[in-house]
Amino acid sequence: MKYIWLDCDPGHDDATAILLAIHIPDLILLGISTVHGNASADNIIDNAARCLYAFGAPDNVRVHPGARKPLIRKPRHDPEIHGVDGLGGVEGLPPADLPEVAERLLVNGTRVRAIEGIANAIRNTWQEGAGPQVTVISTGPMTNIALFISVYPELLAGVEQFVYMGGGVGRGNRAPSAEFNILCDPEAAQIVLDAPVKTVMIPLNVTHTAIVTKDVQHRLLQPGSNWSRTENTLPPASTPLRHTLSTLVSYFAAAYKATFGFMDGPPLHDALTIAYVAQPDLFKCTRYRVDIELSGAHTTGETVVDRVNFRSNYDDSWGPSGKNCLVAESLNVDGFFKLLLECVTRCDAV
Ligand code: BDR
Ligand code: CA
Repeated sequence: MKYIWLDCDPGHDDATAILLAIHIPDLILLGISTVHGNASADNIIDNAARCLYAFGAPDNVRVHPGARKPLIRKPRHDPEIHGVDGLGGVEGLPPADLPEVAERLLVNGTRVRAIEGIANAIRNTWQEGAGPQVTVISTGPMTNIALFISVYPELLAGVEQFVYMGGGVGRGNRAPSAEFNILCDPEAAQIVLDAPVKTVMIPLNVTHTAIVTKDVQHRLLQPGSNWSRTENTLPPASTPLRHTLSTLVSYFAAAYKATFGFMDGPPLHDALTIAYVAQPDLFKCTRYRVDIELSGAHTTGETVVDRVNFRSNYDDSWGPSGKNCLVAESLNVDGFFKLLLECVTRCDAV
């Protein structure tokens, strides 16, 4: 069993991360926090609560609103990819004002903010002598995580690892060499990499292999059916949840095609963080020194990965003097989609 906390900005692929976090049996989801990013902070908060409720999360899992802007820079959103409200085109989710959804934003009747939520989760799972227990996962800009590190350094002893989707090795998506999550708050990302805690980076190089192809969409819509895969059209969804997920994928696919020219389907970036925590053997990873470019004329937000061991005197620690990040380099794609589709089946049964 692994205790996890998910900090996110839903977001189409964040929504799939939430589904996995709820429905992988080996994971215990302690809570969700939200951060500025794909859409306005209010939309993001509502989307997280809508997903938690729609995907049947246990009642004790709550949404903790976090940073509404980066540490230093101006906030940026991504309506081109996620629509104005962050979950453009997704059908079938409950409205944010449904009482059962609104309730997800409250703990004992009040809102508990992101860093207090994370702190409480770590304190509540702390067992003397058991070592660090909680994996903190980030699928958006890392502002909340940086604030948590700055405000509660004494609780880092309870963090097993920070696992984040972000960055790229020699590539970007919202700038020539910068990926969206890191670009939104590069200073926050550097604070996380400097913390004395193991970090795991799932970069674009790997997430761009997790493409929701037409074949995966068929399996999502009609598991086990003999609907002809050669047909150009998609079969009808066999359940309301599968319809919702199919509209999510279709919108995301169209946005990726229009923006980046992707033809086969969209990459499911954020879901890979949860898959990594549950099944690290699906990934091949190497430990490197990673820093963030904070002041480049053309490269701000780049994750600079020292693959040539340029500074030869790194020590064994996580943090400022060591190889501070385990970088994912490849993925067992079939294994990942098997895990995802199993979670959809479990979610359908709730
Ligand atoms: C990341 O940015 C957002 O568009 C996605 O939700 C993902 O977290 C990919 O660069
Ligand atoms: Ca995200």
